Amino acid sequence: MALMRNQLTAFGITPVGFTDGIDRGKIAAAAQEALAKGRVGLIMLETPANPTNGLVDLQAMAAAADEIGAKQGHRPPVVVDNTLLGPMYQKPLRQGADLAIYSLTKYAGGHSDLVAGGVSGSEELVRKIAMLRGALGTQLDPHSCWMLLRSLETLGIRTERANANARKVAEFLRAHPKIAKVHYLGFLEAEDPRKQVFDRQCTEPGSTFSFEVKGGEAEAFAMLDRLKIMKLAVSLGGTETLISHPASTTHSGVARVLREEIGLTEALIRISVGIENPDDLVADLAQALA
Ligand SMILES: Cc1ncc(COP(=O)(O)O)c(C=O)c1O
Repeated sequence: MALMRNQLTAFGITPVGFTDGIDRGKIAAAAQEALAKGRVGLIMLETPANPTNGLVDLQAMAAAADEIGAKQGHRPPVVVDNTLLGPMYQKPLRQGADLAIYSLTKYAGGHSDLVAGGVSGSEELVRKIAMLRGALGTQLDPHSCWMLLRSLETLGIRTERANANARKVAEFLRAHPKIAKVHYLGFLEAEDPRKQVFDRQCTEPGSTFSFEVKGGEAEAFAMLDRLKIMKLAVSLGGTETLISHPASTTHSGVARVLREEIGLTEALIRISVGIENPDDLVADLAQALA
């Protein structure tokens, strides 16, 4: 978001945001707004979104791209940041996306010891990106490539263990009297319009989600300060559980009105559950909340 709002505008690229990725009427309105500003170059989205786990309907996005393409003579590719759920539990290219991008720093790397990015899609699109990458000089260094290949050997088992641990942690939090809300995709109700999208796009809820403590920033900080096992850090997808306060860290640059619109409150805490013994994680949360 910072890249789009603060940097690309200097190159004449204007982002048009949308905060509801499920309602086709709202998606169409955002498409209209974008078309009114000029040629739509691409549709960029993140689902599930960090940190609220908001979902975007990829079929609806592909349909919107078709409609924009018919109107302006260029179909904007649909680009999905698939970092949060990771490649094991969501395959955007099979759901109508043209490109899936990853911060490989997270689940793929998995050990919080490398910084890398990846993109997958058709040969035609990826070749263009690779050529631009070559010209800009952002090739990954050999050591990080080697570490990444090592990490991919365990991606499946790390993802499965973290996913199972996350369910235990989410269930503990949901039952706790000091917790107001748990934004865990495994808890979507049958009548929730997001549930259909989740069932179509994702095979598991994953291990990064957020929850709200009762109260506000002071109560959230009080809990975070008392944790003994979980580390306070803003990355995600590693073997160790990381926990953070998005409103004052990763999302402090997002305007307050927009934060409020997407439900990113001062009481919101994001957790990326790791592969530790889940009983230790629950015990850590229990003592901190107490
Ligand atoms: C969903 C998502 N996409 C992309 C990024 C950027 O990743 P990196 O730190 O590898 O540049 C992050 C991490 O900050 C992220 O959480």
